[in-house]
Amino acid sequence: MTYVMAIDQGTTSSRAIIFDGEMQIVATAQQEFPQHYPQSGWVEHDPADLWETTLTVCRGALDKAGISAGDVTAIGITNQRETVVVWDKKTGEPVHNAIVWQDRRTADICEALKAEGAEETVIEKTGLLLDPYFSGTKLKWILDNVNGARERAERGELLFGTVDSFLIWKLTGGKSHVTDATNACRTLLYDSFNGRWSSTMCEMLDIPMGMLPEVRDCAGEFGVTEPDLLGAGIPILGVAGDQQAATIGQACFEPGMMKSTYGTGCFALLNTGTTPVRSQHRLLTTVAYQLNGQRTYALEGSIFIAGAVVQWLRDGLGIIDSASETQALAEAADPGQEVILVPAFVGLGAPYWNAECRGAIYGLTRGSGPKELSKAALQSVGFQTRDLMDAARQDWQSEGGEATLRVDGGMSASDWTMQFLSDILGAKVDRPQVLETTALGVAWLAGMQAGVYPDQAGFAETWRLDRTFDPEMGQSERNRLYGRWKSAVEATLSYP
Ligand code: G3P
Repeated sequence: MTYVMAIDQGTTSSRAIIFDGEMQIVATAQQEFPQHYPQSGWVEHDPADLWETTLTVCRGALDKAGISAGDVTAIGITNQRETVVVWDKKTGEPVHNAIVWQDRRTADICEALKAEGAEETVIEKTGLLLDPYFSGTKLKWILDNVNGARERAERGELLFGTVDSFLIWKLTGGKSHVTDATNACRTLLYDSFNGRWSSTMCEMLDIPMGMLPEVRDCAGEFGVTEPDLLGAGIPILGVAGDQQAATIGQACFEPGMMKSTYGTGCFALLNTGTTPVRSQHRLLTTVAYQLNGQRTYALEGSIFIAGAVVQWLRDGLGIIDSASETQALAEAADPGQEVILVPAFVGLGAPYWNAECRGAIYGLTRGSGPKELSKAALQSVGFQTRDLMDAARQDWQSEGGEATLRVDGGMSASDWTMQFLSDILGAKVDRPQVLETTALGVAWLAGMQAGVYPDQAGFAETWRLDRTFDPEMGQSERNRLYGRWKSAVEATLSYP
């Protein structure tokens, strides 16, 4: 029997999932780790937590599956993207906590560069925008603010990596300093169109190029784990950022196919094929995957608060005990009330990209309570996805055919939310049987590279539908409701 292990190092937890030779899950281990918020808008992880929880879950998953490392043919690594780690080449000691993708501390750096007119160069070189979300300005911040870091980086003593790169370096005992194209293209330092680090961007952000990892295909040789870590050396044969891994796991391999993953945030990717498409609506042009040296591109819409809005109902307002209660509450909401919640808790992502605005609730009455707020929270996810889908459709007109959205992630389990999503999009929403698409995507990359899983076409055939949601809402009602959302966003963006 052959097994493949997927490591999914996410924003709030690390997980290891073991798949058998038929790509079925046989064991999962998961561990959360602390989030650090040193100042308002700052989010950090301790790199030691990222590493130790990863190692623990890998060992835990092997135990649960009742197998040993020698039974595992390959490892695939997927990860929270954009998060920055800088460490000492000799000792492996990080020079600072990891600065997480959600961290907004470099908003000023971005504003200053925008004022100099640098954004056009950024778009041309990287397909991204000037926003603190991406790695480049976070890396600059570390080099500028950690004592001696810039000098050490210039002397070649420090290495930079996104989380995949850091974990591979640790797993291989410092032998491999590598990443893949899907992670590289989120750094603001990578020329996504020519497939190499961009000297223009490194100059703009003052980054010594010697500290950057080597960039590889998503399926390839990334190194072998040190035998004493897991009990035997296992080759790492697949790497992809988590949203690209989900795109792969959803088998969105044809131009025009789109997926949306509902985790803490929501990330929608539309496959645009081998030619990159420049967005006119502030979506990102990103590498969806790179196989055999061939890049396939996607337009990506990133929104920062999706599942996190339900966490807020639970932890912030305390009106629910668990996320699963929201669906029943939403169903029981007074249909006569139209409460709209704009969850701009950390500003708004695509297509608005406003780091400064904050959330708002509209349409409250004396009768508004937990039911109406739950409904508004779930609907906000649908409205935001509509924003992304409209932008993507306008940027990239598909060759006829009906638009369908493939969904995954925690919130996609809620039938009510998915039905509303289909209603407000006016499009079919397809939910697959396997909702672990991120882990599956990277397990497939590794297993395919090892020769134990099918090729791309064969893998696409294994995708199985759980349920399709068809729009039930009439066009005029859809337009009216979405119009209310747009007015609410406009008011939020212009407040105070
Ligand atoms: O771009 C950020 C994204 O990769 C984070 O995903 O699932 O760890 O919240 P997640």
